[in-house]
Amino acid sequence: MKHTKIIEVLKSDKLALPVVVKGWVRSFRNDRFIALNDGSTIKNIQCVIEDDIVDQTTKNSISIGAAITVDGVLVESQGKGQRVEIKITGINIEGNADSEELKLTILSPKRHSLEKLREQAHLRIRTNTFGAIMRVRSKLSFAIHEYFQKNDFYYVHTPVITGSDAEGAGEAFKITNMDLNDVPKDENGEVDYSKDFFGRETNLTVSGQLEAETYAMGLGQVYTFGPTFRAENSNTSRHLSEFWMIEPEVAFCDLDGNMDLAEDFIKYVIKYALDNCQDDLEFLENRLVQEDKQKPQAERAEMLLRDKLKFVLENNFKRVSYTEAIEILKNSKPNKKKKFKYPINEWGADLQSEHERFLVEKHFKCPVILFDYPAKIKAFYMRLNEDGNTVRAMDILFPGIGEIVGGSQREERLDVLQEKMKALDIAEEDLWWYLDTRRFGTCAHSGFGLGFERLVLFVTGMSNIRDVIPYPRTPLNAEF
Ligand code: 4AD
Ligand code: MG
Repeated sequence: MKHTKIIEVLKSDKLALPVVVKGWVRSFRNDRFIALNDGSTIKNIQCVIEDDIVDQTTKNSISIGAAITVDGVLVESQGKGQRVEIKITGINIEGNADSEELKLTILSPKRHSLEKLREQAHLRIRTNTFGAIMRVRSKLSFAIHEYFQKNDFYYVHTPVITGSDAEGAGEAFKITNMDLNDVPKDENGEVDYSKDFFGRETNLTVSGQLEAETYAMGLGQVYTFGPTFRAENSNTSRHLSEFWMIEPEVAFCDLDGNMDLAEDFIKYVIKYALDNCQDDLEFLENRLVQEDKQKPQAERAEMLLRDKLKFVLENNFKRVSYTEAIEILKNSKPNKKKKFKYPINEWGADLQSEHERFLVEKHFKCPVILFDYPAKIKAFYMRLNEDGNTVRAMDILFPGIGEIVGGSQREERLDVLQEKMKALDIAEEDLWWYLDTRRFGTCAHSGFGLGFERLVLFVTGMSNIRDVIPYPRTPLNAEF
């Protein structure tokens, strides 16, 4: 008989009928009650051993963490806490687990810290917390595709290996298959990349934007959703060296259209999670409530997790120009009292996460879209405004996270773009194909990048980005 997923069994009304389930033992009480979980839902099914159906040797193997198959009959539950349970008719042990050893890694009466669990990233998925996070992550990915597909965007697979550093920040991981102990050099003693695999310098992509732009110029509306890589040495709770990014790009669209798209998109996927991840979000919400009890009153969350998500849905994102934001920050209490690590003295300053979080959490108390940034602190491809000083950039800032989206209207005017590249020392030869899009049917177009893990952080209420991706890559850490 084929086994049934526990999520289905829990909904089933096929009482008195045989059922088979497979999963991992979460607990085993009184030599009788097994709580079994198969990952399909955060909920366990209770399986009850009656009389002497199961011999003592088998019972001894029903330890926490063991994989088992349960044959039984679905019955109405006698106990509290569940509607149905399984009366066991047979058990097969698929894989034993040493519970004592598991206690040292992922299971213990007193829960292990999230830091400890990161060292056990291959086993942490057996905990309720990580099960919930990763199910939500999966549902959010689906919602992202659904949103764009419903709105007539085409999914473009931009290359992972590329010769361009889209952001021009020099934070790309180089790729080579040269023998690092015997690197070919040219007559100037420089590394001779013409002898490398691709006959040129290449790196892992930091963003699919430039390639997505070329496709928007033919397909109209496109999006990418793939891994991106950054060799920035940022050891923070918001940065990964490998993260997933969603990048829509739209032809015949200006910055206002771009902001509308971003807001509508984010609200859609958050609503999807609220509608489709109820059990997991409820669990994560309670987890936060418990965590908050350990904190001083002032540091506790003002809203429950799901209320916070609903708040985002029900309120417009506040749209504020960079110039207005600088005025607010200049006159803010923390700035005057020298509480910012990077004080804001003048227009042109780059905003740090402390400033972004002040604006969102203390001042506006809602998601904020900042736009029209100084050209100097933004990438070369952003459209220059009439003032000659600012560009049509936008960042979306979220409470507890800071920047979650970065985007812009693109510079579609060939001459302006060339001038900009020259000023920044970006060689035209390297981006000839990008410049071609401005030669052959250029048009106003815009796009943005949403850091997927930052979205998952927000939706799950977790506080460290390493806990919302299965195998985090960060400086000095690429285990598994
Ligand atoms: O602001 P960024 O660097 O923008 C771009 O890459 C543009 N090319 C996107 C575009 O317009 N198509 O990155 C976009 C978003 C950030 O807002 C942030 O959410 C996320 O990507 N991000 C990171 N997430 C995790 N770890 C990192 N190291 C990140 N760097 C950026
Ligand atoms: Mg950015």
